[in-house]
Amino acid sequence: MRVFDPIHTVYFSPTGTTKKVAEAIAQGLKAPVSEGSGPVVRSHDITHRKPAEERLAGETLAILAVPVYGGHVAPEAVRRLKAFHGSGTPAVVAVVYGNRAFEHAAEELARLAKEQGFRPIAAGAFVGEHSYSTPETPIAAGRPDERDLEAAKAFGEAVRRKIDRGDLTPVDAARLKDRRTPLLPLLRFVRFALRYRRQQKKHPVRYLPEGDAARCTHCGRCAAVCPVGAIARGDETRTDPARCIRCCACVKGCPVGARTFRTPFAEALARSFNRRKEPVTRL
Ligand SMILES: Cc1cc2nc3c(=O)[nH]c(=O)nc-3n(C[C@H](O)[C@H](O)[C@H](O)COP(=O)(O)O)c2cc1C
Ligand code: SF4
Ligand code: SF4
Repeated sequence: MRVFDPIHTVYFSPTGTTKKVAEAIAQGLKAPVSEGSGPVVRSHDITHRKPAEERLAGETLAILAVPVYGGHVAPEAVRRLKAFHGSGTPAVVAVVYGNRAFEHAAEELARLAKEQGFRPIAAGAFVGEHSYSTPETPIAAGRPDERDLEAAKAFGEAVRRKIDRGDLTPVDAARLKDRRTPLLPLLRFVRFALRYRRQQKKHPVRYLPEGDAARCTHCGRCAAVCPVGAIARGDETRTDPARCIRCCACVKGCPVGARTFRTPFAEALARSFNRRKEPVTRL
């Protein structure tokens, strides 16, 4: 039996849901198969740094995990993942989305992994609390929850069994299909999204996280959690519109609620995608 050690967990995760899913998959993959404690897990958190070029050996295993933005792999994640190169290294690809849809993101991530020299052998799409979710407009609030993380771990265990059988068959990630949304809420959302896009084209900075100077204590947390340096230390109530990727890490990370992202998208998403979607996986 071939042993793939260590397990490299590579993730981009501004609001932390992708990280949780990636870690749960790693936990399942790591489960000892015979004696000893199983392979070592090495984490590569590429959320706050542009990683240096790195080649992962063929006798290791990679988990590549990213959030879904607009039905695609988050573009900043693509840029950062390109620093990692495989040597025919088996990889598990996982996308995390906010209960709307992942569309072609899993397929895209599998393709990118292949181009980078990995061998994608399993793919999964999991749900995480939507970046735009607020207490007033909850969208998959609190996810991934215990049930999701159990599913992610079980997925990791299933991949481990596949590897233990000596089966490194590439996965067809294109066959990973979105869970259905009922037709009416879907149509309502599509109509809203088209209007929103037109507005964004006219006013690209209209929807940008804002800071409340009266509340801000200048603790610097938002600047520290911003993945792209769009917030300057000492001037934390402003946002650089050219850099901001609207990930909402600053909004969720502010301890006093001084940063907000007021987008009508949140309400529309909360209204149309309030039915729980379960993870989908494929080996
Ligand atoms: C700019 C942007 C676009 C998004 N697009 C989608 C999408 O197309 N479908 C979806 O279901 N969720 C979408 N989301 C929600 C995220 O995929 C989801 O919240 C994910 O759990 C965030 O991962 P993170 O916690 O690792 O940052 C989007 C979030 C952002 C910030
Ligand atoms: S995290 Fe909140 S309180 Fe701290 S600097 Fe940023 S906006 Fe101000
Ligand atoms: S400023 Fe923009 S990119 Fe930076 S954390 Fe906030 S939403 Fe994300």
